[in-house]
Amino acid sequence: MKFSSSLNVLLLGSGGREHAFAWKIAQSKAVAKLFIAPGNAGTALCGTNVDINLSNFAAVKQFVLTNHVNLVVVGPEEPLVKGIVDFFREDDAIRNIPVIGPSAAGARLEGSKDFAKAFMSRHGIPTAAYRSFSKKNLDEGYAFLETLKAPYVLKADGLAAGKGVLIIDSLDEAKKQLKAMMEGKFGAAGNTVVIEEFLSGIECSVFVATDGHSFKILPEAKDYKRIGEGDTGPNTGGMGAISPVPFADEAFMTQVVDTIVRPTIEGLKAEKIDYKGFIFIGLMNVQGKPYVIEYNVRMGDPETEAVMPRITSDLIEMFEGIAYRELDKYELTVSPKTAATVVCVSEGYPGAYEKGKPISGLETSTQSLIFHAGTALQGKQTVTSGGRVLAVTSLGDSIAQAVGTSLETIRDIDYAGKYFRSDIGQDLMHWKK
Ligand code: AMP
Ligand code: GLY
Repeated sequence: MKFSSSLNVLLLGSGGREHAFAWKIAQSKAVAKLFIAPGNAGTALCGTNVDINLSNFAAVKQFVLTNHVNLVVVGPEEPLVKGIVDFFREDDAIRNIPVIGPSAAGARLEGSKDFAKAFMSRHGIPTAAYRSFSKKNLDEGYAFLETLKAPYVLKADGLAAGKGVLIIDSLDEAKKQLKAMMEGKFGAAGNTVVIEEFLSGIECSVFVATDGHSFKILPEAKDYKRIGEGDTGPNTGGMGAISPVPFADEAFMTQVVDTIVRPTIEGLKAEKIDYKGFIFIGLMNVQGKPYVIEYNVRMGDPETEAVMPRITSDLIEMFEGIAYRELDKYELTVSPKTAATVVCVSEGYPGAYEKGKPISGLETSTQSLIFHAGTALQGKQTVTSGGRVLAVTSLGDSIAQAVGTSLETIRDIDYAGKYFRSDIGQDLMHWKK
């Protein structure tokens, strides 16, 4: 092992994804200390939460040096897009400390939709046809919209907290929204707008770990984005996840690897972009053929809460392979069981909601994993502190069984304004080719 046998790990982030990471990291024998910055009430059960602002890279460095951290794992995209990996690599005091995540150049795959689309087009990766526009060629944007059929897909180029995509039925409204985006509807993220062809199909999230040369395909998952039952109402950060996905069979995944994953890794290499971390490919299955909807440069949330419990091999060994470019030697093993994650949110989410509601029933479950997403400790009491509060994952022999167990566990959990979807996985239970 290249890593020390008593590792001090710093995990950055505070959501359900980070609790799932922390839970899995803490199981590794190689870990001496696990710190989570800033973490939540759930991560505090797996390690020590530390209060660091993730945008303050100097504070991260200080903590790493003071606490002899020898591995940093980055959960969310923002520090990556802002260049935390480059910050480490350019500083003599910390340059040799591995950071799991891509450089800022690699993080553009998520940080700029225009870059991501151009990258896919350079490397022949299947995705919706598109063009990009800015204020100076707004009229061309209108003309391009006129050549497309409804619905119209408009995407702000930059990070817009998951809100920068509009799917619009009428041409007039699409034109209006295009102008509004350029005039600052999503801030500077909308200075450039990608307009693309609408793809009709069923979505799935594929996760790739890479050391920049070789890669491993982690368990795939399906995410449930809308707030309402039957996938209705506004988009959220994710209301549930199922892994594995029945339509992601061997034939489909072979296409994903051959037409998307391998060309992506080869493309990064050809463009001399250093990439050591995760690539999350949001894809659309269009009549059996995969198309990339988006790249993310991190793991998904809530997908990670369904994916981690299915990984049976050691996660720290995977990080070691990523860090030292020996991922080809890592033996990834995965449970054949189905994981179902059901997210409990605060009433009002994704709009305004109240925080600070005491949560009860967290201790009782032996049949599910209760990952905290938006929780905090008030003294000894765990309270709500976010829109997505908990992600409850169960393993089962079928989707129905795994979802049923999560719903049973949720029945015993209580806080004022608890809301969840009881139909997670329903669409997949009877899925036929
Ligand atoms: P994104 O932020 O790129 O993931 O987009 C948000 C959501 O919009 C996706 O998860 C899809 O459900 C939908 N979407 C994005 N692009 C397209 C497209 N070209 N065709 C159909 N749906 C899309
Ligand atoms: N579940 C989608 C995301 O993490 O962006």
